[in-house]
Amino acid sequence: MRLPPLLAEARFCAVVGFPVTHSKSPFIHRCFAEQRGLALQYERIEVAPGMLAEALHTLRTAGCRGVNVTLPHKEVAAALAKAPCLRVQRTGAANTLWWDEAGDLNADNTDGRGLCRDLSSWGIALQGARILMLGAGGAAVGVIPDLLEAGPAAIEVWNRTAERARALCARFQESGAHVRALDTETPLTHPFDLVINATAAGVQGTAPPIPAGALGPATACYDMFYGAGPTPFVDACKRAGVSRCRDGLGMLVEQAAVSFERWHGWLPDTAPVLAALRPTRSL
Ligand code: ATR
Repeated sequence: MRLPPLLAEARFCAVVGFPVTHSKSPFIHRCFAEQRGLALQYERIEVAPGMLAEALHTLRTAGCRGVNVTLPHKEVAAALAKAPCLRVQRTGAANTLWWDEAGDLNADNTDGRGLCRDLSSWGIALQGARILMLGAGGAAVGVIPDLLEAGPAAIEVWNRTAERARALCARFQESGAHVRALDTETPLTHPFDLVINATAAGVQGTAPPIPAGALGPATACYDMFYGAGPTPFVDACKRAGVSRCRDGLGMLVEQAAVSFERWHGWLPDTAPVLAALRPTRSL
């Protein structure tokens, strides 16, 4: 792993992933830092699978203050942390790392708070809501603890591979009936308040199947993924007559803000950064 030249007067932070060239994190964190004149050097660093521990050692030695972790390293990052916060313990994935004064690696997962903050800024009330989660991979698992904290009536999980949905629900067994696999045998009589796409279907340019009866005129649809234009899931929901649809660009900015606060001690203003990333789109 090669580090770029480091500026003596700036705090050094980084995002590691494979690939990582597409990451918007440097732009977002630099915008946050500018809000208070913080000198920040935030770099994208490509780290091949299996090389995270070594990369973290190099970053630490170079004086790195904080590391964002993206695919495929989130699970390994959680396992390497000496002081993982409760969310990381529950989800088995970390996206935010830093070292404490004793030199121990700390880990947090800010995806769930990023999602909840973006939903809240969109005007979605999670308390008492019936939520349908599409997908049962790491993206879904990572946000469920924070969704649960917001007090929904239920989170029902649908996954293409039903067994994986059941396994996810078993992880959250202690939350009682709040997280359960969608019963696809019984027709739905009421649409959900909120449908969240946490599948990787968008990466393949498609929308996941949406269970019959899940959508109604008052349903809000949220895609945890984003692209240059409306995502396939947002398009599919609009075609099904849903008017309240949003992609995950806001979640990206919000989870970055929570990471930033972890490292620098203050929560930046996300609205201008989101506006800069999405100047002309209404999603
Ligand atoms: P991540 O950790 O990012 O969630 P993952 O573990 O590969 O990635 O999980 C991807 C999720 O997207 C899974 O829920 C997967 O369904 P399966 O468990 O059946 O594989 C779902 N997924 C991927 N492509 C999909 C598609 N075309 N339609 C529906 N679901 C899809």
